Amino acid sequence: MTDVTAVILAAGEGKRMRSKRPKVLHEICGRPLLGHVLSALENLSSAKIVVVGHGAAEVKALFGNSVQFALQEEQLGTGHAVMQAVPLLSGRGEVMVLCGDTPLLSSETLAGLLKEHRQTAAAATVLTACVPNPFGYGRIIRSASGALEKIVEEKDAYAQEKIVAEINTGTYVFAAEALLDVLKRLSNKNAQGEYYLTDCIALLIGKGLMVSSFCLEDYRHALGVNDRSQLAQASSLLRQQINQRLMVSGVTMVDPATTYVDIDVRVGADTILFPNTSLRGTVEVGKGCTIGPNTEITDSIIGDYVTVRHSVLNGCTLADNVTVGPFAQLRPATVLRQGVKVGNFVEIKKSDIGNNSKISHLSYVGDAQVGSHANLGAGTIVVNYDGQEKHCTVIGDQAFVGCNSNLVAPVTIGKGAFVAAGSTITKDVPPGALSLARAKQVNKNGMAARFIENGKNDDF
Ligand code: UD1
Ligand code: CA
Repeated sequence: MTDVTAVILAAGEGKRMRSKRPKVLHEICGRPLLGHVLSALENLSSAKIVVVGHGAAEVKALFGNSVQFALQEEQLGTGHAVMQAVPLLSGRGEVMVLCGDTPLLSSETLAGLLKEHRQTAAAATVLTACVPNPFGYGRIIRSASGALEKIVEEKDAYAQEKIVAEINTGTYVFAAEALLDVLKRLSNKNAQGEYYLTDCIALLIGKGLMVSSFCLEDYRHALGVNDRSQLAQASSLLRQQINQRLMVSGVTMVDPATTYVDIDVRVGADTILFPNTSLRGTVEVGKGCTIGPNTEITDSIIGDYVTVRHSVLNGCTLADNVTVGPFAQLRPATVLRQGVKVGNFVEIKKSDIGNNSKISHLSYVGDAQVGSHANLGAGTIVVNYDGQEKHCTVIGDQAFVGCNSNLVAPVTIGKGAFVAAGSTITKDVPPGALSLARAKQVNKNGMAARFIENGKNDDF
C-alpha cells in the first residue's frame, strides 16, 4: 500500500481527565495513548504530523524524533486543529486524520479504511462504528436510502438524532485537495462554538463529491478516551487482547483477569504467569518460566526456566535457571547469572552475581561483583554506602560468607575465602583465607541465674 500523510489531533487539554498531564500522554498497557495511535500507523504512513497545543513541550519531548509537529495555540476545535497542519501538507495525495485519544484502532482497521477510500474513489471516507451506547460521540446521519448526509455532535443533536447508534470514530481519509478546500469554509456556529472537522463531511457532500464510510467490525475499538473511566475501559480491553495473544502463543495464565502485561512485553512458550503478576515496560521472559503470584517485573530480561515468586524486579537481567523469592527486591543493574538462587527478604542493587551463587536469606547486596558458586549466608550485608559515596565489593568464586556478616566496602573477599559468621570485614580477605572479625566469646559459669532471679527475663 502506498504511503499516506497522517494528521493526528493531540492539542486538546482533555478537561474531563482532570489532570495536569496532557490527555494523550496518559498510558494504557505501558504506552501513552498517542503512542498507540502512532504505532497503528507505522506501516501506513511515514509522514506523520501531530497537532500539539496543551502540554506541547511534554508531547514533543516524548515523540520528537518520529514525527513532525504543528502547533495549535488556542484549541478552537478539531477542524481548526487540522488547519494548523495545512502548511506541512503538500496539497496532493491522501490525508488520514486521527484523534490522539482513540488508542484501540488497529493497523488492520486503518488499512481497511484506506482500502475502502481508494476502491470507492471517494473525496473522503469516515471510519464509523455501531455502538450500544453512542452518548458523547458524533452521530452518522444518513438519508432514508442509507446515503451519508452529515455528522452531528452530541451537543448539537436533536432527540431523534441521538438515537442513532452509528457513530464517528474521529478517523477519516481525505483527498488532500478536497480537504483543504472545505477546511476554509468551516464555521463555528454550533453548540460548542468550535470549528468541527466533522462538518467537512456535509460540506463535501454538498459539493456533490463522493463520501464513503467504513464500519468497524468490533465496535469496542472505537473507544475514545475522554475521562478516567474510559481510560480504564481502554486499558482493560487492550489487556484482554494482549493476554489472548500470549495464551494463543503458548503462555499459561492461571487468571488472565489479574495478569497485567504491557504492550512491549514478550513471553516464551510454556511459561506460567500466576495471578497478580505485572510485567511492565519492556520485558522479555523466556520459555518454561514460573512467574508470580504477586510479582512485578519492570524493564527486565528473564532467561529460560526461571522462577520468580512474590517479588519486585526492575531493570534486571536474569540468565537461565535462576530462582528468585519469595519476597525479594531486585533493583536496577542487577545481573543474576545461570542458576543463581536469591531467596526471601533479599535486596540486590547494581550487582553482578556469578553462576550458581546463592544469597538465600535476609541480605542486602549493593554495588557488588560476586563470582560463581559463592554463598552469602543469612543476613549478609554489603555496607556499600559511607554516607557520602557508594563503594564496591568484590567476592571471589567459591567464597563463603557466614551468617550475619557485614562487608564494609570497598573490600575484596578472595576466591575460596571463608568469612566466619558475625564478622564485620573492613580489610581485604586473601584467597583461601579464613577471616574472623568478631569479639571473642566469654562464658561465665553460673552467672545466668542472677539475671533470671532479678526478673530480667520477665519482659520477653
Ligand atoms: C470527536 C468528534 C466526534 C467523534 C469523537 C470520536 C469532532 C467535532 N468531534 O469528539 O464526532 O465521535 O471525536 O472519539 O471532531 N483536539 C485538538 N484541538 C482542538 C480540539 C480537539 O487537537 O481544538 C484533539 C484532542 O486533543 C483529541 C481529538 O482532537 O485528541 C478529539 O477531541 P475531543 O475533544 O476529544 O473530541 P470529542 O468530543 O471526543
Ligand atoms: Ca475524544
